[in-house]
Amino acid sequence: MFQQTQVLPIQLSLFDDGQLRPSTIVNVASVKQLSPFRYPGGKTWLVPVVRDWLKARKEKIHEVIEPFAGGGIIGLTVAHEQLADHVTMIELDPDVAAVWHVILSKDFEWLAQRILDFDLTPENVNQAIASEARNTKERALQTILKNRTYHGGIMAPGSGQLKHGENGKGIASRWYPETLARRIRYIATLRDRITFLEADGLEYIERTAFRTDVAYFIDPPYTAPGKQAGNRLYRFHQLDHERLFDIATTFKGDFMMTYDNAESVQEMAEKRGFSISRVPMKGTHHKEVFELLVSPAQ
Ligand SMILES: C[S@@+](CC[C@H](N)C(=O)[O-])C[C@H]1O[C@@H](n2cnc3c(N)ncnc32)[C@H](O)[C@@H]1O
Repeated sequence: MFQQTQVLPIQLSLFDDGQLRPSTIVNVASVKQLSPFRYPGGKTWLVPVVRDWLKARKEKIHEVIEPFAGGGIIGLTVAHEQLADHVTMIELDPDVAAVWHVILSKDFEWLAQRILDFDLTPENVNQAIASEARNTKERALQTILKNRTYHGGIMAPGSGQLKHGENGKGIASRWYPETLARRIRYIATLRDRITFLEADGLEYIERTAFRTDVAYFIDPPYTAPGKQAGNRLYRFHQLDHERLFDIATTFKGDFMMTYDNAESVQEMAEKRGFSISRVPMKGTHHKEVFELLVSPAQ
């Protein structure tokens, strides 16, 4: 069974900053961290693979569509490196969406400045997060504060603030205001190349499936049976995966889907004749972990 599965020659290692990244073959130094988020399930480590995928094409893709944008590192990289003429990023979570709305609007400087001016104490963070956001700008600031001070960057209901921090520095251990402001200001310069939509990614890809000039990068929330913790990574963690796979069969353009290595995913892919690659990752304690890349039938 599963004969189609190929193993990509990429070795991933756990680096000091807690991120998994390719350590051989792929040039890790070539990955620029552009996102202001530290996103659970973020795909910074996959950037070199996505870059190769888009560059290997005979004709440049007009548009990359990222229906489950989250921290948006793929879309941002595509815009930054002009791997396509345009990027459309879609995200359903209104808190995450607020950040993208503001950064890609004329209000980006307000957000950068508020981050630079914020006096990061547990009291100030709690107060800022507990108060009702009066507008999208305030909601964006609350989201960044949660994302940078909550354990693992997880903002889903039930997640909580760092106590001892991830390097003994308490809640400030992932708070880099100058870096965040710089990233926000840089993304704002890319805004002509990026469209952000607060919407249902599934509906969007279904409506655009007829387009031949697009490539979809699809990184859905996924929880393998038995992996309860995954449920709490995102507020919107439930998705009809069979429907997503069905929609993928109707794409006239290219796509790459990424999933955790679960048999149910392999089955959904094989049922539709898609190709599967397993990307090996070196996890903690030298346990090998794989991610699945699903692409059109070859
Ligand atoms: C695995 S994460 C994406 C991570 C992203 N690739 C990155 O590198 O940061 C999946 C995202 O999909 C979002 N999401 C869940 N259901 C959605 C839907 N129906 N439409 C759009 N976004 C959705 C979640 O809120 C979450 O941000």
